[in-house]
Amino acid sequence: MSTPVYPGVRAQRCPFDPPPEYADWRAADGLQRATLWNGATAWVVSRYDDVRAVLADSRISADARRYPELNPGAQNGQPHSFPRMDDPDHARLRRMLTGEFTVRRVAAMRPHIEELVDHFLDEMIDKGRPADLVRDFALPIPSLVISMLLGVPYADHEFFQQHSATINHANASPEEKAAAGKALFGYLAGLVQRKQAEPGDDLISRLLTDRVATGELSRPEVAMNGMILLFAGHETTANMIGLATLALLRHPDQAARIRDTDDPAVIANAVEELLRYLSIAQDMILRVAAEDLTIGGQAVRAGDLLTINLPAANRDPVFLDQPDIFSFDRNVRGHMAFGHGIHQCLGQSLARAELQVALPALLRRLPTLRLAIPFEDVKFRHDMSAYGVHELPVTW
Ligand code: HEM
Repeated sequence: MSTPVYPGVRAQRCPFDPPPEYADWRAADGLQRATLWNGATAWVVSRYDDVRAVLADSRISADARRYPELNPGAQNGQPHSFPRMDDPDHARLRRMLTGEFTVRRVAAMRPHIEELVDHFLDEMIDKGRPADLVRDFALPIPSLVISMLLGVPYADHEFFQQHSATINHANASPEEKAAAGKALFGYLAGLVQRKQAEPGDDLISRLLTDRVATGELSRPEVAMNGMILLFAGHETTANMIGLATLALLRHPDQAARIRDTDDPAVIANAVEELLRYLSIAQDMILRVAAEDLTIGGQAVRAGDLLTINLPAANRDPVFLDQPDIFSFDRNVRGHMAFGHGIHQCLGQSLARAELQVALPALLRRLPTLRLAIPFEDVKFRHDMSAYGVHELPVTW
């Protein structure tokens, strides 16, 4: 039998569910072998317990220098990015950013996120029906939020959205990905230079003033951190907003629960279930075994690639009863939509805040919101590292 491709294609009948073969991979002995976007083969880790163990295991490395052919950016002469490093190097760089994304800092940004959400809703409604919810709502909100936090001019959003999409596209060639990475890095390096001369009240300026001045960080490292945050900060959240909206349109009873409550705890819980149920990070976590070891009964050799199947792990019946049912009635604490271990999503509080603000506002403002095309015609992002919808034509 030929090696399957990872990520697989979710069924059009229920495009929120993981591809059907993932359940077999979870049930089988050992780990599944699969082909990745560039033709390399990797072990796919699909069981909840195995994923948790792998992501907490220091013998399993995230260091891109161990798999350069899968990280075209690593060959550009740019500094390495901390998500693709191991501790202690990773921890040194990540620590300088954690203060920007604490629950408290994000709570302070919330009124601003609310204003932005209202603004984009006003604009979309003014433009008239039908609208593409991705273009007019899901993408601009996280893009603008991360741009403002970093101090990146939002006027340049088409430039960075387009290059981020190329990096995220499973079918883009290594050369295309490398070129997009180079363009983004060059853009950030230019911005860092300008902010060095004229600092503002933003994250990049704070890194320059607090960390470059002390010798803790180099300017290229600041540009790289800015690039990582810009890239990680908008595509993922945008896809969650788009896909979550579609899931809510298909489950009006659950949508009503969000629309009709003013209890922040109910909304927060609903967002967690959406994150788990949709598990959009379908092809974002790549690792390499740094030594020979056994995972889930499978012998893995040093140098073997591992890819982490979050959609399968978050639907593992070992983790949750009736995992394929979408319900706001349960507690999904322990889901891994943001990963696990030392690389667990740095921006998760921000992503949660954006979702907790955007989804109720949309449902309340447009209670008659519905798809403007047949469900069967929606174009899903099967071939992207973050799953979602390419566009979402809606009316109200
Ligand atoms: C890491 C998912 C939003 C910044 C991760 C990882 C996942 C993830 C699964 C783990 C990667 C790994 O282990 O290799 C998501 C999802 C989001 C989201 C589903 C939205 C719903 C954000 C936002 C930001 C962000 C808004 C920034 C503002 C990062 C960074 C890392 C990361 C910097 C790397 C952390 C590290 O390696 O230490 N994210 N993310 N993410 N995310 Fe997110």
